[in-house]
Amino acid sequence: MQILITGGATGIGRAIAKEFRNVSGAQIVITGRTESALKDTAADLGIDYLVCDHSSPEDLSVAAQQLPAELDVIVNNAGGIAGFDEARAGLAGVKDVWLENYVANVLTAVLTVSELGRRINNGGRIINIGSIAAESGAGSYGSAKAAVSSWTVGLAKEFGHRGITANTISPGYIADTDFFKGGLTPERERDLVSKTQNGRRGAPEDIAALAGFLASPGAAHITGQTLHVNGGTYTTR
Ligand SMILES: NC(=O)c1ccc[n+]([C@@H]2O[C@H](COP(=O)([O-])OP(=O)(O)OC[C@H]3O[C@@H](n4cnc5c(N)ncnc54)[C@H](OP(=O)(O)O)[C@@H]3O)[C@@H](O)[C@H]2O)c1
Repeated sequence: MQILITGGATGIGRAIAKEFRNVSGAQIVITGRTESALKDTAADLGIDYLVCDHSSPEDLSVAAQQLPAELDVIVNNAGGIAGFDEARAGLAGVKDVWLENYVANVLTAVLTVSELGRRINNGGRIINIGSIAAESGAGSYGSAKAAVSSWTVGLAKEFGHRGITANTISPGYIADTDFFKGGLTPERERDLVSKTQNGRRGAPEDIAALAGFLASPGAAHITGQTLHVNGGTYTTR
């Protein structure tokens, strides 16, 4: 089984790579922009890596030549907050931060599937990483993650006839990642944990476990969905 995990050197992507090592015969490639981090994780986990900025069509074209000719799973995990809305002044600032968050979270995944989607074997999987921010009015970042979920519905339609599923995993607050770039205060973390029903921080492994299930034969009839993993902070009916 050939598996590509974008943004796989750190946090959630790294945990997903570790989870997929349990799949027999799995060949895993992680990507990202920082070679040192990729190299360390790849060595730790005994997997392959490739430096690639998934927002760059040029980088993706080059990476495509080095990636396996067939893929079974693509995990579009690369992303994050590209800037906070309130930190940008003026209309030009508004435009910049909205575009940056869209590029970082939507286009990275869209370009990846546009370049590599045709390589996915029948019965394969596309797993996108969204965010609880899509449900909480979180400005440009939350809107971009909502777009990821919407795009996923289209992917389910586009790839369904080949038995390929497409789903979005939407994490709540997940600790032990580089997401907050060291900027999460203890007060803010306490507040995030207090909003869960189980009173704990999310772990990258909580997301990885669901990714592992979505890639398994038992999840073949789950497609076009947004699946929430957040300790009950946001609930659906
Ligand atoms: N942590 C949370 O609480 C949380 C909650 C909801 C959703 N999420 C989502 O979960 C996903 C994983 O984030 P994380 O929490 O694990 O944070 P993280 O540790 O910062 O992981 C993000 C990874 O994506 C890579 N990346 C970012 N932009 C990229 C690009 N253009 N091309 C290639 N790689 C890129 C980063 O590496 P480089 O910078 O080296 O490229 C990094 O390894 C993100 O989509 C994030 O929005 C996180």
